[in-house]
Amino acid sequence: MSSKATQPVKRPKIAVFFGTRPEAIKMAPLVSALAQDDRFNLLSISTGQHREMLDQVIRIFELPVHHDLDVMTPGQSLASLSARLMTKIDSVLEIEQPDFALVQGDTTTVLMASLACFYRHIPVGHVEAGLRTGNLASPFPEEANRVLASSLATLHFPPTTTSEQNLLAENRSPDRVFVTGNTVIDALHLEVQRQQNPAIKEEIERTLGDLLPSDWRSTRNVLITGHRRENFGSGFTAICDAIARLATRFPEVRFIYPVHLNPNVQVPVQASLGKLNNVFLLPPQSYRPFVALMRQCTLVLTDSGGVQEEAPSLGKPVLVMRDTTERPEGVTAGTVKLVGPVKDNIVHHVSELLTQPSIYDAMAKATNPYGDGQASSRILNAVATLLQV
Ligand code: UD1
Ligand code: UDP
Repeated sequence: MSSKATQPVKRPKIAVFFGTRPEAIKMAPLVSALAQDDRFNLLSISTGQHREMLDQVIRIFELPVHHDLDVMTPGQSLASLSARLMTKIDSVLEIEQPDFALVQGDTTTVLMASLACFYRHIPVGHVEAGLRTGNLASPFPEEANRVLASSLATLHFPPTTTSEQNLLAENRSPDRVFVTGNTVIDALHLEVQRQQNPAIKEEIERTLGDLLPSDWRSTRNVLITGHRRENFGSGFTAICDAIARLATRFPEVRFIYPVHLNPNVQVPVQASLGKLNNVFLLPPQSYRPFVALMRQCTLVLTDSGGVQEEAPSLGKPVLVMRDTTERPEGVTAGTVKLVGPVKDNIVHHVSELLTQPSIYDAMAKATNPYGDGQASSRILNAVATLLQV
């Protein structure tokens, strides 16, 4: 054996940050790929911006967590959360000195991790880069978080050519921008495949069977999620009023709503919808039963980002309760419609989909504009090229 071959090979240490439910889902395939890749050492850092909702994902994907910064407090303000994140992330960076960091999306975790790394001259790769509405107030504060994260990143991983064009229009260097697809599709492919397993099927039936009537698979179900800060207050009032009216108009349809734990969501939703017979307010669901609900439902009513990407891949029409979206691909493809947090619009479009098969069929045509499930390997290859490993 040559002396060169016996030299220890330095494998760069790659820090992967996640803090909320969607970041963990979208980082899970990348963490698994990194853990199996001889070119790198994985350092997995959970900021704990979320707690129960994050832990559900960590369990399902069996994610390793090397540091849990455990920052969440009930009803946290953006400023206090940011301050806690900055201090705790920097302490870990000081101890671990990673060679490169990966962040995902547009949360406070992303911005603070990017800034803390920048201060320590650690290059950052931004996964799901380049999504833009062009309006800093919507989504709030996510549009600002992702614009600022782009300014700090060394490598940018836009999921689509639309998001790539946004980055190039901001003069990001083309040789640092890689269209990869969205890692949410990597995660979804993995989960849909796992749900073929009889033991997992049984686990899903048990979980949802405890929460819903036993014939839940044979009725028409509208699946609902909502948590955007810009919808707090009047937006949520309009959303709840719309759901209540729809529940009365369509008594045979079930409205299934796993409610986000943010008190700004829990309080109005429980107060206005808690007593309706055909509205089922569930705790936030673990990713596994939630994917099962998406696969079974008739349509999805949401203000979530990730759900806008997943549901069209499963052939489900998506009505987005927002005024703008940074995910225009689904709108262009015709599988997503923006209905705003506007009562009459929501009632009109849900009613239309429930009563007019031609409109339903046109929206349900499955397209998958968000990738082929290979995003993680593209990302790691780009990092390897930059780090010359
Ligand atoms: C955050 C992200 C948002 C993302 C969303 C995903 C920011 C500013 N917002 O919003 O971009 O779309 O996560 O869901 O980064 N809570 C719990 N347990 C949990 C999670 C939340 O009790 O597991 C409650 C706590 O009271 C917490 C509050 O929800 O203080 C708000 O959490 P936070 O992460 O600040 O905001 P989200 O609305 O969840
Ligand atoms: N999700 C989940 N359980 C739920 C609701 C959503 O696992 O009860 C998943 C969903 O499949 C998607 C992600 O959470 O992958 C979206 O998270 P969220 O809506 O909280 O955040 P956003 O995507 O808007 O940032």
